Amino acid sequence: MSQSEMTKKTILPAGFDERDTHLTFDGHDLVALGQEHGTPLFVFSERQLRHNASSFLAGARAGHQRARVFYASKACSNRRVLEIFHEDGLDIEVNSGGELYKAQRAGYAPRQIVFNGVAKSASEIDHAIALDIQAINVDAVYELRRIGERARAAGRKARVSLRLVPGIAGGATPGIQTGSATSKFGMTQDEFAEALAWLKKAGDAVDVVGIHLHIGSQVDDTEAYLRSVSFAAEQAKRVQQQLGAALSHVNLGGGYPIDYSHQPAGSNEFGQYGAMRKAEAMVSDVAATARKLIGTEVELLFEPGRAMVGNAALLLTTIESCRQRGGHPWIYLDAGYNLMIDAAAVRWYYHMVNAGRAQASEMADFRVVGPLCDSADCFFDVEGEYLFKKVLSRLPDLTPAQQEELRSDIIRLPATRRLPAATIPGDIVALLDVGAYTLEEMFQYCGRQRAAAVMLTLEGNVVPMLARDENADLVSQER
Ligand SMILES: Cc1ncc(COP(=O)(O)O)c(C=O)c1O
Repeated sequence: MSQSEMTKKTILPAGFDERDTHLTFDGHDLVALGQEHGTPLFVFSERQLRHNASSFLAGARAGHQRARVFYASKACSNRRVLEIFHEDGLDIEVNSGGELYKAQRAGYAPRQIVFNGVAKSASEIDHAIALDIQAINVDAVYELRRIGERARAAGRKARVSLRLVPGIAGGATPGIQTGSATSKFGMTQDEFAEALAWLKKAGDAVDVVGIHLHIGSQVDDTEAYLRSVSFAAEQAKRVQQQLGAALSHVNLGGGYPIDYSHQPAGSNEFGQYGAMRKAEAMVSDVAATARKLIGTEVELLFEPGRAMVGNAALLLTTIESCRQRGGHPWIYLDAGYNLMIDAAAVRWYYHMVNAGRAQASEMADFRVVGPLCDSADCFFDVEGEYLFKKVLSRLPDLTPAQQEELRSDIIRLPATRRLPAATIPGDIVALLDVGAYTLEEMFQYCGRQRAAAVMLTLEGNVVPMLARDENADLVSQER
């Protein structure tokens, strides 16, 4: 199968095309982009960002007229991204004083901001109270008391939303499941009861304007969301009964998925990295259910991050070396987990295509690794492969079917990537769907410069978003 055929079969994102032997994205030749701007290079699409924002907002509003979308800026808080979403009618979720600063710089008004976080500092709390933002999402009883005390001392009222544990663990991997009582987030029912008792007794400087929950990330399960709506409906009633005050909003969090797998429909090969439905269709169902169960008196808030930016960027990386080992060709990219920590931390799958060999007909299976000095810097599951071998050696009687089941439970990523057999050093490979949880998580390990980012604008221009580090940046904070 030619890469061109494979490309069609594996459903490359909107915006991709082929020109001669090269792949293009929003009309730009990817090989030429890599050569002109250098690699590794993040390439964002303004078209896709605006499409994601408007379709998610429209989906949410189709289900509930008073829906608002607070973009979870942790996913990517680059100024250009925040400004585009602001122009397109999104509000913003922040997770630190730093993100609050960036949100304000990009033009978001205080009532367009909600503030999450499990360990907010006193100064972050003071700042949020002084600004009178839409809500501080309170994560714990201790924090609630702290906010109350600081608001009273400042002679103000703090607008808060109570983050609750719904007992629903959505999300592709354990590290990004946030809705159960074993995670570090939110208040359990006992803690919630304690919070309500404290509010009745001493909550004079606190305005409870909402409740909040967030079940995880890359949640490809509409049912899980619908269960969380029922939970939210019950809890909203409980707050109103106990505190006698109507809530102004219910915040159902984010977590909506994108299709990282690019496998043909029905393929379950990298199940947790796929998305059976589009985020906008899922949120529409969730919002419609919320309208039925919670009503239209309150505003309905959503906090999507990944679904807003994930598929709006790709990463161009050059192959710097190669070898033959263990029956496979290996290729060495100039991009490692210092640019996408999730590739190592939670073994995230990023689909790869050779940007300069679109018409190749012969394919081969490559072991793909990054440039850093440890074995974890690879695009297969080195830890899982090791663990599987070890467990298997202790269970010699497993049938082949049982072995296979164990293998797919333990090993999270494919061992190899299918690329044109002619792929060699100097080729430019594009990693897809790298817009979320990458730019702000880059670091300079091994003396590596953090990558540059550009945006392809609607007018067809290539504008800078982030400058590549220079060697001086590697030492600029040293004293
Ligand atoms: C409270 C909260 N809201 C929203 C998000 C965004 O999640 P996602 O990017 O999966 O939509 C997160 C992610 O960690 C979160 O913790």
